Amino acid sequence: MQIKFSSKPSGDALAVAVYEKASLSPSAKALEEASGGSLTRAIKASRFTGDAGQVLEIAAPADVKAARIVLFGLGSKKTANGNVYEKAVAAAAKQLLLGGTQVLSVHIDAEDGELASRAALGATMAAYRFDQYRTKLKADKKPSLTTVEIVAVDDKAAKKAWKSWESVAEGVKLARDLVMEPPNILHPEEYAKRISKLEKEGLEVEILGESQMKKLGMGSLLGVSQGSVREAQLVIMRWNGGKEGDKPLAFVGKGLTFDTGGISLKPGAGMEEMKGDMGGSAAVVGLMRALAGRKAKANVVGVVALVENMPDGNAQRPGDVVTSMSGQTIEILNTDAEGRLVLADALWYTQEKFDPAFIIDLATLTGAVLVALGHEHAAIFSNDDKLADRLYAAGKASDEGVWRLPIGPEYDRHIDSDIADMKNLGQGRNAGSIAGAVFLQRFVNGKPWVHMDIAGTAMYAGSKDPRLPAFGTGYGVRVLDRFVRDFYES
Ligand code: BES
Ligand code: MN
Ligand code: ZN
Repeated sequence: MQIKFSSKPSGDALAVAVYEKASLSPSAKALEEASGGSLTRAIKASRFTGDAGQVLEIAAPADVKAARIVLFGLGSKKTANGNVYEKAVAAAAKQLLLGGTQVLSVHIDAEDGELASRAALGATMAAYRFDQYRTKLKADKKPSLTTVEIVAVDDKAAKKAWKSWESVAEGVKLARDLVMEPPNILHPEEYAKRISKLEKEGLEVEILGESQMKKLGMGSLLGVSQGSVREAQLVIMRWNGGKEGDKPLAFVGKGLTFDTGGISLKPGAGMEEMKGDMGGSAAVVGLMRALAGRKAKANVVGVVALVENMPDGNAQRPGDVVTSMSGQTIEILNTDAEGRLVLADALWYTQEKFDPAFIIDLATLTGAVLVALGHEHAAIFSNDDKLADRLYAAGKASDEGVWRLPIGPEYDRHIDSDIADMKNLGQGRNAGSIAGAVFLQRFVNGKPWVHMDIAGTAMYAGSKDPRLPAFGTGYGVRVLDRFVRDFYES
């Protein structure tokens, strides 16, 4: 599906906005007048009120060139911001995606280029499909919609604004594709290869294999990988769009291409979801893609640790003690708490190698975060209030919400071990997500840092949000792009 901008609609379907209490937007009003009041008639005969996210599809009246009209609700005019446009136009596009319409012309009456872009982003997100492994999809089950045409008041300004948002859309798509890929295909080496392809977008990409990681002393990461026949990869992406000498912003992602739990094997039911245990890394890769695409004015480094956690004769055991790159030793009490082990070395490496302004890590780290926040917010943990506040604001602005949970010495004690510097578990079932966070904190060497636990938000099979496909949501790309955009580019 492609996005176009124009000043006049050419589509076989038109989408026009309606505000709450069925108050028509200017372009809806124009249609209403050209068609002898047919919009109001249709609204009256329906339950559509113009509330945000509602859609009503009607056959276009005789004197309108298009065949169909979709009304999309924006709710109150006062609250109709980018998020509302994004979601509303996503709902409209989703309504027509498979129904035969080829070109949907969406009227955006606002003059703001960003609102038009957010509408386009919503349509793109709603049109997302992951069909490459279907060989028998019938023509009439494939999307019919090829183009969404944004008809904006100032279509030149809208088109210009879209240039940067299009990169965000591409970053989200990339992150989703990576999460959706089956784990036999997307193993660490294949994943690293795909990241290398981003060099053509202007990213510098470096790949470390296991022998290099061994030399660096990454015993914690390698302990997780040792049960897999696949070689772990540490991939470093750099985007240097800022001033020379400015400390980079660092993003680190957990990239378990599959997590069986290892010797502490997970139950069979639902285990296939653990192909998405690389969602943190996918968000970092998607973000780097977005930043390079829109030539962000910031120096940014993305580090992803790509590993497979398997049970095997060579797999690590509960009871093992490993030595991390930081020198700190870790007693493994559960081989399924592997994300923190992998990130421990990735975080230490990142802070030591790049001396970043801050580090944000993203990880599908704990099932416990689903208990706390469901699929609707990522949990954040931080040693820096300003960073956490900024991330919260970016979450609000991008509609990828975050909610802060506490860390501190009283929780840090939970991971003390009887025989090593720490253990990879907290105290029983309590505060499981926090135990993961305080563990990671021991590997950032006091640098400003945020941990985002995205186990709930990166994978969501049953969402009602029209922007989200079943399963891989691409969570993280939008909030982090927004975070960089709003606070670190001048
Ligand atoms: N990858 C899982 C966390 C997860 C669970 C992500 C559900 C997405 C959905 C992680 O590696 C894990 O297994 N965590 C354990 C930690 C426990 C052993 C302390 C968990 O959450 O049960
Ligand atoms: Mn696990
Ligand atoms: Zn995991």
